[in-house]
Amino acid sequence: MDERQRSQQVKALKDELRQLYQDLYSDSGAAWEALVRMLDQAEAQRPAAMKELDARRLRDPDWFKDRNMLGMQLYVGPFAGTLQGVREKLDYIESCGVNYLHLMPLLESPAGRSDGGYAVADFRKVQPELGTMEDLAALTADCHNRGISVCLDFVMNHTSEDHEWAVRARHGEKEFQDRYFFFDDWNEPNAYEETVPQVFPQTAPGNFIWCSEAGKVVMTTFYTYQWDLNYRNPTVFNDMTANMLYLCNQGVGIIRLDAVPYIWKTLGTSCRNLPQVHTLVRMMHIAAKIVCPGTLFLGEVVMEPSKVVPYFGTLEKPECQMLYNVTTMASTWHTVAVKDVRLLKHQMGILFTLPKQYTFLNYLRCHDDIGWGLDYDFLKAFGVSQIPHKKYLNDYLRGAMYESSSRGELYNDDPALGDARLCGTTASLCGIEAAEYEQNTDKLAWAIKLDVMLHAFLLTQSGIPVLYSGDELGQLNDYGYHNDPVKAGDSRYLHRGNFDWDSAAKRKKRGTRQQQLFSSIKKLVTLRKKHRVFKSSADAWVIETYNDRVLGIGRYCEGEKLIALFNFGDYDEVAYINEEGGYKNLLTGKQFDAKNVTVPAHDFYWLLDNKA
Ligand code: GLC
Repeated sequence: MDERQRSQQVKALKDELRQLYQDLYSDSGAAWEALVRMLDQAEAQRPAAMKELDARRLRDPDWFKDRNMLGMQLYVGPFAGTLQGVREKLDYIESCGVNYLHLMPLLESPAGRSDGGYAVADFRKVQPELGTMEDLAALTADCHNRGISVCLDFVMNHTSEDHEWAVRARHGEKEFQDRYFFFDDWNEPNAYEETVPQVFPQTAPGNFIWCSEAGKVVMTTFYTYQWDLNYRNPTVFNDMTANMLYLCNQGVGIIRLDAVPYIWKTLGTSCRNLPQVHTLVRMMHIAAKIVCPGTLFLGEVVMEPSKVVPYFGTLEKPECQMLYNVTTMASTWHTVAVKDVRLLKHQMGILFTLPKQYTFLNYLRCHDDIGWGLDYDFLKAFGVSQIPHKKYLNDYLRGAMYESSSRGELYNDDPALGDARLCGTTASLCGIEAAEYEQNTDKLAWAIKLDVMLHAFLLTQSGIPVLYSGDELGQLNDYGYHNDPVKAGDSRYLHRGNFDWDSAAKRKKRGTRQQQLFSSIKKLVTLRKKHRVFKSSADAWVIETYNDRVLGIGRYCEGEKLIALFNFGDYDEVAYINEEGGYKNLLTGKQFDAKNVTVPAHDFYWLLDNKA
């Protein structure tokens, strides 16, 4: 794109932004003027190095769809103490093959009332114990020099109750109360409660609290110390957009729009995914396209697929460039527990029909719980109903059944709905923790196999695979959180433990669990980066294996064809396939006949067509 095209593009973007702004905030001349001034200012403040990166991204807008992408998410403190510490560990991060680093929330957030950093008290200040904004900019600059993009959360639905706006609102300043949802009495809040579900039914029931200092009721969808922002107020949109752009100017290239479906509230609705949410995301997208066009949005939409996909927007009017593939994640753990691939097959079938320009962020687990948002309409055909099924999955995955070696814990067990979710690291859920505890070497080998197979499945999917730091070494659950009064009530800390550098050192010692996992995952990542069949633009399809324990996936791209087979069962199983031609096992390089393939228990094959 040359300069003339870019200025035409910016003009068109500004026109669209103005129209959307007017539609949403009809009578808002002054606020619009303020927004335009803010955008100019943010653009003027954009560092030269970031402008260069923008130009490169504009020349290659699909850069993030390449098969060489590998993400890692980590909390700065538990990983390396400080931002400076992370800088010193970049060699390790790079050695994993990572080129996309998601730094979990690191902005100022009150200790003990932070929700893992998701209650931000100052969007322009780093938590002092982690470092400073200059340290963040230095880290992002180091990352860029190594070709690593940095992702940061933008917690846009709420602020901490300690944020200056909240403090002033609490002390009675109407202007700041108008930035939140304040009510004089409980009438309206009670009416909201009729239709708004609960996010934390056990750890923070209800969606409102009484603020005694203000003598008013405040909306708090998440924890009581997370006050929902009111985007009906254009100043909130302006100031939050300014905060987002400020972070982009510190070198953050990927913005994770935290809890985005919740940002618009209307009485009588679920207050999720309302049409205005899409207008707001599109407006933010445009603001970023004007000021920092290399920036990407990753939407955190933990909803069923029909609700997720609209956040991509349209081809002409995109919203988020990337979205979490949450249903596949949950369906994967369902498949581990039931050892029957039919749901996953169905889910893959749906994904494969979606336009290829949609980029999903694939993961086995993240910093949050695993919620059982499965396709129950599909499961109904097999006599599966939600509540007993969720109980089965939770029982299996926390090892409450004789035949299970998984070790997880429940999260937000809602007795009213029977809707508990689940926590645990990938390794502990795969049985590695139990096997090591029992010193059972057979069981350990079996659990490691499952863990590697799940990673192979992750890496077979189109999109960006993201590892939770530590999973590459088989990091186990951290039960220490039970003894920390601040964390004890939130079982998500089970899988957010400190990165264990002593354990990481064992990746170099042959035969250790760390070495087996690290080298296997690394090998898979290297193969994925090498073969064009893993590109997002590849055709992908489900291969019928005539065996409900074995998932078959085909991929084809520019002359390369891959057959991937995953055995989720506890015994060796035959995939009754009959693929013409000669294949080779990508991992061993050996010739392979892709007919009636016996896949060992918990194992997988990546078979590449020889003709390639
Ligand atoms: C997102 C985060 C989660 C947090 C919530 C509230 O869902 O992933 O950790 O609790 O937002 O900000």
